[in-house]
Amino acid sequence: KRHLLGIADLNPVEILSLLDRAEAMIPVSRQERKSYPTLSGKTQINLFFENSTRTQASFEIAGKRLGALVVNMSVRTSSVAKGETLSDTAATLNAMRPDVIVVRHSASGAVELLSQKVSCSVVNAGDGAHEHPTQALLDALTIRQHKKRLEGLTVAICGDITNSRVARSNLLLLGALNIRTRVIAPRNLLPAGVEHMATEVFTDMREGLRDADVVMMLRLQHERANGLMIPSTREYYRFYGLDAEKLAFAKPDAIVMHPGPMNRGVEIDPAIADGNRSVITDQVEMGVAVRMAVLDALLPAGDAR
Ligand code: CP
Repeated sequence: KRHLLGIADLNPVEILSLLDRAEAMIPVSRQERKSYPTLSGKTQINLFFENSTRTQASFEIAGKRLGALVVNMSVRTSSVAKGETLSDTAATLNAMRPDVIVVRHSASGAVELLSQKVSCSVVNAGDGAHEHPTQALLDALTIRQHKKRLEGLTVAICGDITNSRVARSNLLLLGALNIRTRVIAPRNLLPAGVEHMATEVFTDMREGLRDADVVMMLRLQHERANGLMIPSTREYYRFYGLDAEKLAFAKPDAIVMHPGPMNRGVEIDPAIADGNRSVITDQVEMGVAVRMAVLDALLPAGDAR
């Protein structure tokens, strides 16, 4: 069975092929073309051990628009709450013969572990600080929709790089396609060894944003931090919050992205988040098309279990 566990497992041809497939899915995801039942007769289980609004809802909509039977497991009311292990949960769900399980978990590597315990496809919907592959794909599709290309662009990723699976998957995807990236963060939010990664590193936001085509903001992930990450959110906003003054250092037509959920007034000025340079709601929309493309690619028609 085929899985999507991370961007690290994809080569550039596979990445571009998924983006092309997602682009072709946009009319279906918008329901302009009502019927595209390639997952008819298939069963999809969404298993989210961590909170989600965008990813869970869009995977559900994606599966349903492709005609799958979609089951959303409520982890809080499941037997996980009674102490059932990840392996036993996986074996139990596998016995119901799903075709795909979409998994989010707070532990890096948990999704790969689960994929070894089941005989269906598994999609990583975010595992700890490791990877969030469909987010990186939907980000690339959003950029390509707005800029009409990916090559030759400069993408600045700003904020909590250390704890961000979104940053990691985006750096892997953009790096695989030879797209210039920058990371911008205070020292304590940059991962160890970042200077050896194929990205430019900035601690000054204005320098990092200079002439960028794409400004990708990240959420401060307090849930992954051991102790206090920053002295104060006000201080953080002053140096690393995206406001009009700092955005003016990027190109005049630079787009502003954020994977959500946002901490308004911490990493981004609400006026910028809601302004005409923001493509944040487009990212959400592209999420449905990308997840349809991933499910469609992993589950060949007529191969139901
Ligand atoms: N971007 C993202 O993964 O959002 P959710 O946590 O709401 O799914």
